[in-house]
Amino acid sequence: MTKLAPSILSADFGRLAEQVSETTNAGADYIHLDVMDGRFVPNITFGPVVIEGIKSHTHLPLDAHLMIVEPDRRINDFVNAGVDHITVHAETCAHLHSVIHQIKESGRRAGVALNPTTPLSAVEEALPFLDMVLILTVNPGFSGQTLITEALVKVKKLRNIIDEKGYAVEIEVDGGVNVNTAPAVIRAGADTLVAGSAIFNNKESVEQAMKKLRHSFKEISIP
Ligand code: DX5
Ligand code: ZN
Repeated sequence: MTKLAPSILSADFGRLAEQVSETTNAGADYIHLDVMDGRFVPNITFGPVVIEGIKSHTHLPLDAHLMIVEPDRRINDFVNAGVDHITVHAETCAHLHSVIHQIKESGRRAGVALNPTTPLSAVEEALPFLDMVLILTVNPGFSGQTLITEALVKVKKLRNIIDEKGYAVEIEVDGGVNVNTAPAVIRAGADTLVAGSAIFNNKESVEQAMKKLRHSFKEISIP
């Protein structure tokens, strides 16, 4: 079963708690948290304090995607805020193995994210230690961008490596996922779809949007 991880980056921050509850009640699998520092990516979003605030409004795993420089200095803050998954960018870690170790030691699931043109080799040697890999299909920083189709080739390659070696690593795909692109993303081998603007928009409720998204790939059988 493909999992859905709605990104609250596109939610109405004036009623964030309510939106998190709506997402939970609509049957999401994770709450995806896009943490941005204005340095690794141009945008600034939120950090541990806000995450701590929404924690009590959901029983779902909090899936933190850290788009920040020097994430090793902040892991503890996110652990204390109550996140369940911590994904760092390979591009931000000179000592990736030790950052992964730090996350695992805290009892959280560890993930590594790759920007669209960062090669798989940046994460391949880390796969035995990882729980998840997040493949960005847009340049991180903003929601509502168009999926870069070429990045799906990397998803396919990663799927093959994981299956061949028998690693227990989940593949998340993040950026430009909507009813039109979701089928191709799943065919490429994604386990989990992150979606922001496809879930939180003015056209429909969170529940309707999630139903539509799930419906768009219900016919797809994963080998
Ligand atoms: C991009 C973020 C995404 C973003 C996705 O920097 O990592 O999680 O919120 O938004 P959509 O689904 O609108 O592309
Ligand atoms: Zn994200």
